[in-house]
Amino acid sequence: MDRQFGALILVIVMLPVAVECFTRHYKFSVVMKNVTRLCSTKPIVTVNGKFPGPTLYAREDDNVLVRVVNHVSYNVTIHWHGVRQLRTGWADGPAYITQCPIQPGQSYVYNFTLTDQRGTLLWHAHITWLRSTVHGAIVILPKRGVPYPFPKPDDEKIIILGEWWKADTEAVLNQSVQSGLPPNISDAHTINGKTGPTPNCSSPGYTLHVERGRSYLLRIINAAVNDELFFKIAGHNLTIVETDASYTKPFSTDTIFIGPGQTTNAIITVDKAIGKYAIAISPFMDTVIPVDNSTTIGLLRYNGTLSSSPTFLPIIPAVNATPTEFSFIDSLRSLNSDQYPAKVPLTVDHSLLLTISVGVNLCPTCVNGSRLVAAFNNVTFDMPTTDLLEAHYYNVKGVYTDDFPAFPAMPFNYTGSPPTNIQTTNGTRLYRVKYNSTVQVVLQGTSIIAPENHPTHLHGYDFYAVGKGLGNFDPENDLKGFNLVDPVERNTIGVPTAGWTAIRFRADNPGVWFLHCHLEVHTTWGLKMAFIVEDGDGPDQSLLPPPPDLPSC
Ligand code: C2O
Repeated sequence: MDRQFGALILVIVMLPVAVECFTRHYKFSVVMKNVTRLCSTKPIVTVNGKFPGPTLYAREDDNVLVRVVNHVSYNVTIHWHGVRQLRTGWADGPAYITQCPIQPGQSYVYNFTLTDQRGTLLWHAHITWLRSTVHGAIVILPKRGVPYPFPKPDDEKIIILGEWWKADTEAVLNQSVQSGLPPNISDAHTINGKTGPTPNCSSPGYTLHVERGRSYLLRIINAAVNDELFFKIAGHNLTIVETDASYTKPFSTDTIFIGPGQTTNAIITVDKAIGKYAIAISPFMDTVIPVDNSTTIGLLRYNGTLSSSPTFLPIIPAVNATPTEFSFIDSLRSLNSDQYPAKVPLTVDHSLLLTISVGVNLCPTCVNGSRLVAAFNNVTFDMPTTDLLEAHYYNVKGVYTDDFPAFPAMPFNYTGSPPTNIQTTNGTRLYRVKYNSTVQVVLQGTSIIAPENHPTHLHGYDFYAVGKGLGNFDPENDLKGFNLVDPVERNTIGVPTAGWTAIRFRADNPGVWFLHCHLEVHTTWGLKMAFIVEDGDGPDQSLLPPPPDLPSC
């Protein structure tokens, strides 16, 4: 009796420990689905027949297992954008960088743990342009019993922004690759998959039903392919509390600026007169490049609103409203509390200056005999046909070189009048760093062919955005202005048009980590490179072995 009782007590005592970290199982079936938008129907690639796809819910410290089964005729991979993937690069997802694609009829289990992150992220396909319809939210709740560092809102809502083409987006991509010309711009923007009323087609848009007097945490995700967006709700301010799954110092704003790959958590208190208030998303483009200039309207609708009541509209920012963009991003600061300190590297082992440029290379089969390309430091990244992470892990020679230039080969006035030769070089060149070294990357915009804003994403890390400026980065003076105390921590950061952004991170995650512009058009053109972070000597400092079901090429 006593022994059994003792065992019972032991079980009870152990239980709280046992429930601390969960394994969450998800099944993602990649299937085609016919979807109608803008009064026209097309088959799209989806996860589980949903657009946007299912939300992945978990808590910090949970282990997540997602079994992805490919039932479509395209190769597929899924990227868990912003998940740090500590030692689990095999589950990161970019095709040919950390895995070979999941071929039709095949499956792969993504296995990763959510460490030291909480907030909103997104998942999306990471091959060709499939992410236009294959994307969804990741919600990482704090550990059980740990509160948010802000008053708990009454409810939470996910808002995914996207871009819709009436044409098949794989066809849009292929046409552009074959012709060498820019891809067609999208036909509309979407809020949770809905375009809403447009001049030629009246369809219901997204409606957010709210109860007057309550507060809501909006988990806003930009899953668009090529468009940076402004987000507004008529008559209401938003309190920003988190970006890219890192808490920020709260601040109030009436306009959110959000680039593809970025996420923003904002609290709205609905305390205005009962009625209908427009949720408006509109593009940002402060240069001469064509953009889908359509505004999409959804509704914030108070319960009890008469259907006959008018909709309040916000003032839509001009498409080139750079000051509105800057005022949002300059307001972002890390929370930097005792519980969530900003661990900004104060010294730098590797300092890189990466210029971002669009160029033109010869292409005899293209429409103009040339094709548009893009490059960091004039190196247009050649995608390998096997997986870089395996090549690194197994020491396979001939797949890549690790000589990516830390500085432009030929410095010039980056933001002045462009040089006459705008051809780029090609290569699968990587930049190698030792485990735990500190890295500073200054992303320098250029005016080749036109200066443009580039939301740049680093895999495997959250970095600190320590500085930003217009014109050319000046190592003497600009360093002095860096914020090394409470800079915002992100995984995707805009490089201002004709300006620069400086980021810092500690290379404490071994693997091969992609860095690229998150405008898919520029990724396609080669605006990408990767870091190799070597294993450390400690017991938990090396890349884990590849899982047995890792797809082969
Ligand atoms: Cu969200 Cu490499 O991308």
